[in-house]
Amino acid sequence: MTNNKEVVLSGIRPTGNLHLGNYYGALGKFLKLQETHDCRFFIADLHALTTNTDPDALHRNVKGILAEYLAAGLDPEKASIFVQSDVPELSELYLLLNMHVGIGELMRTASFKDKARKALGLDKKDDENEDDIEKQIIGASTNKRVSAGLLTYPTLMAVDILAQKARWVPVGKDQMQHLELTRRFARRFNQFYGVEEFIEPENFEFRDAPVKVPGLDGSGKMGKSEGNCIYLIDEPKALRKKVMRAVTDEGPQAPNSPMSEPIANLFSLLELTSTPDVVKHFRDAYADCSIRYGDLKKQLAEDILNVTTPIRERVNDILADEAYMRRVLAQGAERARAQAAETLAEVRHIMGIRKI
Ligand code: TYM
Repeated sequence: MTNNKEVVLSGIRPTGNLHLGNYYGALGKFLKLQETHDCRFFIADLHALTTNTDPDALHRNVKGILAEYLAAGLDPEKASIFVQSDVPELSELYLLLNMHVGIGELMRTASFKDKARKALGLDKKDDENEDDIEKQIIGASTNKRVSAGLLTYPTLMAVDILAQKARWVPVGKDQMQHLELTRRFARRFNQFYGVEEFIEPENFEFRDAPVKVPGLDGSGKMGKSEGNCIYLIDEPKALRKKVMRAVTDEGPQAPNSPMSEPIANLFSLLELTSTPDVVKHFRDAYADCSIRYGDLKKQLAEDILNVTTPIRERVNDILADEAYMRRVLAQGAERARAQAAETLAEVRHIMGIRKI
């Protein structure tokens, strides 16, 4: 956890239990990186506020994510683990950085448009012309508003990263646009003031490309709002049932046929969870048309359970030990605050907020 190692930072919003998308896009990488890098992993409760309005659920979910982090093997002696709102310096940095962020570039962010659509109760079909959503946001009545917090979500995310001077940010594919904005904001700030204050961070990937874990419902990604998640704490019976229900097709009709999306998705999950031998076995079976999807699903369910069972088995003990959880967070916040306070002091000075 000491100096001269490159800093890694990442966070997860406490909006519910962790699922396989979170695991393969983020947490699984955190576990490896804590062995080699100066890691800081947090629970993005302020970001959750942009969509979550139930205070009790938010509080419960913060504890839940922390317990799942620890149950998965994040080690507070190796990595700093903290809650975003325990680092108040981030909120001031967010205010300061927002002075250099354009409303237009925020409005064009894909995740903002998606969430704005939801907030306004619109279907994607309602605004096939991409400009329409912007008009709808501006024209929305105040009781169906899109919050300024949602709009400035990427500024806060950039601040999380830049405050810690992080070089690497392990995230899934869906966060790449946010990361690109972070780089742009860092560059812009440095250029505007003629300084080298911020590092331009990059995604950290052990594989060739950013991970997108698909859902098992045939298309798209696994996600809470998609309602298609396999959770790390799913009981074996429920988990097997979800996998066995995965959408498939009528099977390959000729040797070496191209795969339909639902089948390609099953193979993507198999590649993440199984050994290369197993993947090859089923790929060969697909190619020569001998594949039985039921067998593939059974294998997939067992391989997923190999990853999730140890986590599920530990999580309740950790949840029961609030004193331990508090200690972990206090220690993590102290470290994260020290770095954030240093960055904030520098940024204030650079921007001209100086004592007389
Ligand atoms: P969040 O909470 O939506 O997701 C947490 C992490 O899980 C990854 N992920 C996936 N990866 C692959 N396939 C999927 N289906 C999938 N679903 C989720 C996400 O890519 C992410 O890495 N904005 C962030 C939280 C955040 C953050 C940060 C991350 C706030 N500040 C600073 C890194 C650095 C988010 O909403 O993630």
